[in-house]
Amino acid sequence: ERGGYPHFMLKEIHEQPKAVRDTLRGRIAEDFSRVQLDELNLDDAFMKAVDRIHIIACGTSWHAGLVGKAVIESYARIPVDVEIASEYRYRRPLFTPNTLVIVISQSGETADTLAALREVKRQGRRVLAITNVVGSSAEREADDVIITWAGPEIAVASTKAYTTQLIALYLLGIKMAHVRGEIGDDKVRELLKGLEDLPQATEQVLDTAPQLERFAQRYVDTMDTFFIGRSLDYSVAMEGALKLKEISYIHAEAYAAGELKHGTLALITEGVPVIALATQPDLYEKTVSNIVEVKARGAFVLGMTWIGNEDLEKTVDEVIYLPKTLPELAPILAVIPLQLLAYYAAVARGNDVDKPRNLAKSVTVE
Ligand code: F6R
Repeated sequence: ERGGYPHFMLKEIHEQPKAVRDTLRGRIAEDFSRVQLDELNLDDAFMKAVDRIHIIACGTSWHAGLVGKAVIESYARIPVDVEIASEYRYRRPLFTPNTLVIVISQSGETADTLAALREVKRQGRRVLAITNVVGSSAEREADDVIITWAGPEIAVASTKAYTTQLIALYLLGIKMAHVRGEIGDDKVRELLKGLEDLPQATEQVLDTAPQLERFAQRYVDTMDTFFIGRSLDYSVAMEGALKLKEISYIHAEAYAAGELKHGTLALITEGVPVIALATQPDLYEKTVSNIVEVKARGAFVLGMTWIGNEDLEKTVDEVIYLPKTLPELAPILAVIPLQLLAYYAAVARGNDVDKPRNLAKSVTVE
């Protein structure tokens, strides 16, 4: 049932090209002229009227929401708040006349996310759910649903659910931006072609596995590590840190690279492993200057950038190269080496990878 893989997590990491392909299937017009999310009841008039979006989720799904915010704000120009469900449900959120609430939940059964969904509905607001489980509570109770076709995810640590949640958010963001006239046909075509290339590109990223397996040996005796990046890279860094914590039990912190010098740099000492994401060309130089800061304190840095950008080798100890894609889509590729790193670190430490201590796959308690 693990298809020849030693753990479900590794199998699910390798299923991402298929999961991404399945989640895109039928949702891009053949001539790349538009997004087809025909399952939505949301009509164009409502999409045009939306004046605020609240994205609500937990854990990895919340991290997907952070990427969603960047995408929706930059394409569709709608302000987006991303909230942790267990926080959101206990305060009194402010709604504008046309707030759209998006809940993201792989299982569709997470207690805090469902409670938030129900409270929002009770207040007469419209809820769109992004979920991986047909027939789940979130799927049944939301007004609109985008199913991610990742297939069953068995390992507690979420991998292919995250990448497919990003696909759903890209499709929705592009669709809203197009309907609202914020992006033109040419940009839509460029983005949709970029999405269409992702299954192939994710396949290629999986080839970095041996490099990460080697690097992960550094974590056998390390208790602390940092993931740094800016903008979208920072959101992916947060997901990388969570993954490493939950299955390898190593303390990991994600930091906005430009914020390090405001305190956290004090923790960077000789030999501390730092994972530095530099996948965004417009912020590349800024990120490199932050990498130089951690290198100066003796950090051992694994950098990540796009193929062809050998410049990074001048600054870091090792580089992971990602296939070239549109910068906005890079998170889908950048997260995969981080999943592999967490996986191999956990294996190297002899942990129960698929069933980490203290954690459950579906958190149905508050
Ligand atoms: C981490 C992980 C959790 C879940 C979180 C939400 O690898 O899997 O952080 O993302 O418990 O679960 P769903 O998406 O089912 O609501």
